[in-house]
Amino acid sequence: MKTLEPCTLVIYGAGGDLARRKLIPGLFRLDIANRLPEQMVIMSCGRKPWSREQWVAEVLAMLQTQYPPEVIAHSFERFSARLHYHASPPDDPDAYVRLQKTLEDNPSIPPNMIFYMSVRPAEFPAIIDKLGNVGLLKEHNGWRRVVIEKPFGYDLLSAQSLQASLYKHLNEPQIFRIDHYLGKGTVQNVMVFRFANILLEPLWNHHYIDHVQISHSETLGVEGRAGYFEGSGALRDMIQSHLLQLLALVAMEPPVSMNAEHLRDEKVKALKAIRPIPQNAVHAHAFRGQYGSGNIGGGAVPGYLEEPGVAADSSTETYAALKLFVDNWRWSGVPFYLRTGKRMAESASAIYIRFKNPPQDLLKHTRRDPAHPNWIMLGIQPDDCLKIELQVKVPGLDVHTRTISLDATYHRKGDEKFDAYEGLLLDVIQGDHSLFLRIDEVEAAWRVVDPILKVWSMERDFINNYPAGSWGPRGTYRLFDRDDQFWRHSLNLDGADLQAY
Ligand code: BG6
Repeated sequence: MKTLEPCTLVIYGAGGDLARRKLIPGLFRLDIANRLPEQMVIMSCGRKPWSREQWVAEVLAMLQTQYPPEVIAHSFERFSARLHYHASPPDDPDAYVRLQKTLEDNPSIPPNMIFYMSVRPAEFPAIIDKLGNVGLLKEHNGWRRVVIEKPFGYDLLSAQSLQASLYKHLNEPQIFRIDHYLGKGTVQNVMVFRFANILLEPLWNHHYIDHVQISHSETLGVEGRAGYFEGSGALRDMIQSHLLQLLALVAMEPPVSMNAEHLRDEKVKALKAIRPIPQNAVHAHAFRGQYGSGNIGGGAVPGYLEEPGVAADSSTETYAALKLFVDNWRWSGVPFYLRTGKRMAESASAIYIRFKNPPQDLLKHTRRDPAHPNWIMLGIQPDDCLKIELQVKVPGLDVHTRTISLDATYHRKGDEKFDAYEGLLLDVIQGDHSLFLRIDEVEAAWRVVDPILKVWSMERDFINNYPAGSWGPRGTYRLFDRDDQFWRHSLNLDGADLQAY
């Protein structure tokens, strides 16, 4: 375990949802696990004029919703000593000068600083500008890092102008663009699975792989985030960011080392190899839908258009599916199908890799059931696991075959489980960029989705509907290249046969 340099974490938007649900509880967890630097200070900035004592009471209330009383009784005192609060009302012109004085004139505050932008994306250029203007981003005494949350722009152009505004005060190594998906256990396991085992490498290419599916479905709807979601939609919200990152991890070449730049160089190459979709081919490669009313978990739920804050004629997609090709030596001709949706039948995220059939079907005369291809599946959530489907002989006198699933669930009793944000926070403290996005990755991902966004924004009169609680709009099947390709909905054996939507 590395000894960590003391540092100060400044959280903008400390009263907001992300800080309450993930950042503060995650920091508490890291403190309990003795993973925070000894003298680390957590300075929360919010609009409310709270005192330090009021803020500590707020934090206690947040933690009480996630941790049992005995854990709080044992560990909160040490954690609370790290907590400070800085009131930063938007109309206060002196708030940043006061912050600069508090941070830089106080010897008990470590001069290595992280500024976490847990605010609406529209706000962070202005905050970074003000921090820069009072000199807080200059690395003259200790390092300064800034963490920003997606979305990084809403298309390529806006991402580039956001970037230009950040570069006024920051260098690329100071910027940590967080994609919380990369902090998930299985997502990192994609790299371990591929690069710590030799077994798969010879098969990991177009000679043996029929297609790849990357799917994230949720039973939740927009959950009070209509304001954000109306301007985003599922393609920007999930595919441009999280799912294209997963595609990059599956498709990339082995990096020279696990060093952050080597890793990111290979991811960028994979993203750049994605075949551009011309506007006149968007319908053949992309499908969108919007949930109507339906049933989730036995209860009726409203449709997207009935959600508070959604325009009555909104054509924002809550479901998006793409077919992409990675035009390089390894992946030539292999479709990558990406899918995401809200209010779907189940909450599940996984990577499904389907292999080709053997070159000759030697068992066709003795087998009773149709041939089943091999699948390798990496479950991301709810459970992180790895499964492989193979054919075996059914015991008995005849040569009948059956599909079995090798379940290589790698969690053992007693293994520690950390939330994605916990690992990523630690990486920022350590200055490790491996799981954060470099600007060229962000740009490459926008280049993939921009033509689709353009066409969809012009075609606003119609959007396919799907009932809440279903597996999405039926027409999505037209993306598949062949009749024997279909969305896989589950890691279980029956998932391979589920063709209905
Ligand atoms: C976020 C999206 O980035 O990821 C949300 O904005 C989505 O809309 C979420 O629900 C999914 O991540 P997780 O970790 O909750 O599955």
